[in-house]
Amino acid sequence: AAPAAAAAAVHEVTCSAPVNIAVIKYWGKRDTALVLPTNSSLSVTLSQDHLRSTTTVRCVAADEAGDRLWLNGKEESIAASKRLRNVLADARRLRRAAEAADPALPALAELPLRICSVNNFPTAAGLASSASGFACLTYALHTLYSLPLSVSEASRLARVGSGSACRSLFGGFVAWEMGQRDDGADSMAVQVASETHWPDMEALILVVSDARKDTGSTEGMQQTVETSTLLRERIASVVPRRMRQMTAAIHARDFDSFAELTMADSNQFHAVCLDTYPPIFYMNDISRAIIRLVTAYNRLFIKPVAAADAAGDSAPAATSRGYRAAYTYDAGPNAVLYLPREHVTEVLGLVNHFFPPPAAADHAEYFGRAASAFLPAVDPAKVAALAAQIGFAPFPAGSLQRIISTHVGDGPRVLARGHVESVSLLSATGL
Ligand code: DP6
Repeated sequence: AAPAAAAAAVHEVTCSAPVNIAVIKYWGKRDTALVLPTNSSLSVTLSQDHLRSTTTVRCVAADEAGDRLWLNGKEESIAASKRLRNVLADARRLRRAAEAADPALPALAELPLRICSVNNFPTAAGLASSASGFACLTYALHTLYSLPLSVSEASRLARVGSGSACRSLFGGFVAWEMGQRDDGADSMAVQVASETHWPDMEALILVVSDARKDTGSTEGMQQTVETSTLLRERIASVVPRRMRQMTAAIHARDFDSFAELTMADSNQFHAVCLDTYPPIFYMNDISRAIIRLVTAYNRLFIKPVAAADAAGDSAPAATSRGYRAAYTYDAGPNAVLYLPREHVTEVLGLVNHFFPPPAAADHAEYFGRAASAFLPAVDPAKVAALAAQIGFAPFPAGSLQRIISTHVGDGPRVLARGHVESVSLLSATGL
């Protein structure tokens, strides 16, 4: 390019990336530096319309030495985060190789970076902010540097930032294949089904607390690897079987199997946390009460069928067993419910009955997208039947902080190439 054009070109990209919530959980690393997991995992990507990270990355002039990062409006030290430095180093190494192979490419690899990232939800609320954040950074660097990688290959960069982040590189239903190699080259995300495959699938996040969690995932899972004997059984036989069963359930849109596997895997993840020494508790009384409610609610509808062969890769049941909702919990007390759209209104009504909103809650803020849903008075017969089973009266108002109503969504998006004032998170001078 002519020198004038090169000087005028602003190498900047802004992207957004989604949150994902696992239905087969990642918990345990076999290599902590490369973030290689002890088991494969599988997640559902949630819509960026409701939960997302947005990131601008920009190459600045060589004399503006040093990379800089702003996270949710505050400058953060890059030096202090080894994971972040690893992601940047990997991206630069790949760009350097591309430039060496094609001298016509602009020399970007050695230029300092300016990075600005925001989440539209509280960081460290157990809502996987590290996943959407590192996925977004990876996708933005992949675009900025035009890296010659497939999205799966690029997901390895996100993985070294935070394991679960690699799954946010795709929309829909996503597996993180653990891989076998010591260098991690085969440990990456693959899409199991796109976001249009099962459009009926909705998610309700019941925010029990948005406080920062006590034991971080990184630290907690290594304590589990070191001390839990139950984890060994999970890694050796339970997860490999469930990965096959869950993939089949998603392909067949078999909600019964999806729900059974999701709840079983959440339960086992929290069981290995309890089997850790010292034990790790992520759920609280409200979390457990929500489990009782969902269990009792499903029981009103489930038709008993001959138990599926639990040990085999049984084909999805031909007839519906009647599950209506599935719960899952990550490293925190918040519940995520997956459910078919037709049951959302009823489930919201029941959640609202047993866990009433704070008295002064702003309706639109508390219910988010669900605020416009018509919340009919719940059927008194159903409430009585449920109350008898779960054995608790409605919780005090305000036991939930809010409800996020969302659905399956797409993968990362490029919002702008170059400096677009209305989109960029950086100023014209790169601050
Ligand atoms: C419970 O991906 O946050 O959400 O790789 O150490 O950054 P690091 O851990 P992280 O762990 C997520 C654990 C989980 C389950 C899951 O998302 O699969």
